[in-house]
This record gives sequence, C-alpha cells and structure tokens, in this order.
Amino acid sequence: MKTEILITGATGTTGQYAIQHLLNKGEKVRAMVRTIDERSEKLEVQGVEIVKGDFFDSKALNVALEGIKRAYFLYPFQDHLPEAASLFAQVAKEKGVEMVVEMSQMGAELESTSPATQNHVQTESIFNAAEVGAVHIRPGLFAWNYLGFAAPTVADHNTFYYPHPEAKYTIVHPKDIGEVVAEILADKDKDKHLGQSYEVSGSQVYSAEEVTKDIAELIGHKVEYVPVSVDEWIDAVKDHPTINNFLAKHLREFSTEVAEGRFDKTTDVVKNITGHEPRSFKEYIHEYKEAFLPKSVSVMQS
Ligand SMILES: NC(=O)c1ccc[n+]([C@@H]2O[C@H](COP(=O)([O-])OP(=O)(O)OC[C@H]3O[C@@H](n4cnc5c(N)ncnc54)[C@H](OP(=O)(O)O)[C@@H]3O)[C@@H](O)[C@H]2O)c1
Repeated sequence: MKTEILITGATGTTGQYAIQHLLNKGEKVRAMVRTIDERSEKLEVQGVEIVKGDFFDSKALNVALEGIKRAYFLYPFQDHLPEAASLFAQVAKEKGVEMVVEMSQMGAELESTSPATQNHVQTESIFNAAEVGAVHIRPGLFAWNYLGFAAPTVADHNTFYYPHPEAKYTIVHPKDIGEVVAEILADKDKDKHLGQSYEVSGSQVYSAEEVTKDIAELIGHKVEYVPVSVDEWIDAVKDHPTINNFLAKHLREFSTEVAEGRFDKTTDVVKNITGHEPRSFKEYIHEYKEAFLPKSVSVMQS
C-alpha cells in the first residue's frame, strides 16, 4: 500500500491526534514536521514516514506532497497563513492532490472583525479557487486554550478571570478535531466531503461560570469566577507559554468575536463523522489536572 495521506502540523495538537486515529484505522501516513526532535521520532517509531519541511519552502513541499492524494493543511495560530496556503495549494495542485482538509475556524465569515479570523476566511477562498478538493474544518474554542486562560490563576489562587460573563461558547476537545480530520481523509467516499465546511463543536456551550464550575469539580474545591475587562484579561494571560505573540496581539478581537456569539452553537459533526458524541471540556481538563493544582500539590503528587 502506497502512502497517500500527508499530515502537516504533525507535531501539533490536532495533527498528532489525526495521525494516531489514522494509524489506528490501519492507514499509512506521511508527516511533514518543521523540526526533527523527540516528537517526530515518536511518530517515526510508530511507522509514520517523516519529511522535514517548512510551509514556506517550496522544495520541501514538493517532496512532502509527492505521490500524496489527500492532505491535512494545519497552519499554526501565526501570521502569514494565506501566503502559506497559496504555496501549499499551488504545489498540491501540481502534484494532483484530490483532497485538502484545511483547519479554519468557527465564525470564519467575511464580516468578522478579527485579522486572525480574516486570515482563515481568505485561506478558505484560496483552497476553493485552487481546485484541490477543499474541505474546511471550523472548530469552536479548543479546550487547550484553558491551560493558558485558566490554569495559572486557578493553581495560584483558585480564581478564573475572564471578560464577557454573559457570553456562551462551545469548547472542543482537540482529539475530536483530529478524529474528524482523520475520518474524512480516510473516507473512500471523498465526494460527500468535497466543498463542505464542518463546524466542529463540543457537546454543549459554556459560560465562564460554567467553565469555572467544571474546573472546581475537577480539583475538588471552590474556584471563583471574576469578570474582568478585556484589557485586564489580556494583561494577565499574555505572557503564558501557551499564548504566542500572534495570539496575544489578537486576543482582543478574538474575545470580542466570542462575546458576539460566533462560537455559541453546537453541531452534530463529531457524532456524524466519528460515530461518537463529542468529548466534554471536563474530559480534556482531567488529562491536565496537574496544571490546575497548586504547585506544592502537583510536586507532592509527582
Ligand atoms: N485555539 C483555538 O481555540 C482555535 C479555534 C479554532 C481554530 N484554531 C486554529 O487551529 C490552528 C492551530 O491548530 P493546532 O492547535 O493543532 O496547532 P499547533 O498545536 O499550534 O501546531 C502547529 C504545528 O505546525 C507546525 N509549524 C509551525 N510553523 C511551521 C512552519 N513554518 N512550517 C511547517 N510547520 C510549522 C508546528 O511545528 P513546531 O511545533 O515544530 O513549530 C506544529 O506541529 C490555527 O490555525 C488556529 O487558528 C484554533
């Protein structure tokens, strides 16, 4: 069996989950990684073919896409997404790729005010125009965000600070996104997916109070939710390692979009594509419980 599936962003959150699911399904996978390190070695020992490459290196893209029929385009939360998408789409077209599943975002609409979201809007158009079999994945908020938004202050003084107490949003377990991507890439009936935009949600929508309640139940004692202004919130979270410079620059618009209700919906995409209900926010934070505990407790437990 030839390797016909390429995963980019393969060492990142959703890329890793997509690869694991494809391997579980018995698919052969090639991974494009920016860096050869312990993460790529872990993939290699599982039988994944590794190609080292950068999204802006056309030579590497030519190698990565050689013989590939279906690809996952996962660009990080960084600047220059449309430029990377243009180059990838061009090489994919030349190589005869029949399906590109690309990571977009819930609420990626023309009227969006966030430059980061606008990058996704533009990127969807780039892949549509390139005629490479575009499929758009539009997830809600990644549960992962709360390792940066909530864990540090919960661990430090049992408090979750967030603006927009009235806002509701869906929170998605990244494993569900990876599985949706993998199921689409492996589906023999590709035509039912081409041109689709899949809004991937969790099982419910949450307010900041509800997020706080789940965290409190997880760690077994009271956590207080304190509404703050957007400026106070950005100032508090911008230096956390999970918040890169690009995200920090766009937190204001991003949180405004969340407050406008762009993420306030649930869909049946996870159920329809994977066959199971979406995983819960609680399930995700349970895996990272240590991050929400006071440092002294986590050290004692480790
Ligand atoms: N956070 C949210 O709530 C949310 C919601 C909806 C959509 N999204 C979208 O989800 C995407 C991020 O997904 P994710 O969390 O799965 O990504 P991620 O964990 O940040 O992973 C990014 C991957 O891309 C690789 N990479 C970075 N720069 C590269 C380059 N120049 N060339 C080749 N590879 C490169 C990284 O490799 P290294 O680790 O080696 O750098 C890593 O493997 C963004 O497009 C974001 O807009 C996020």
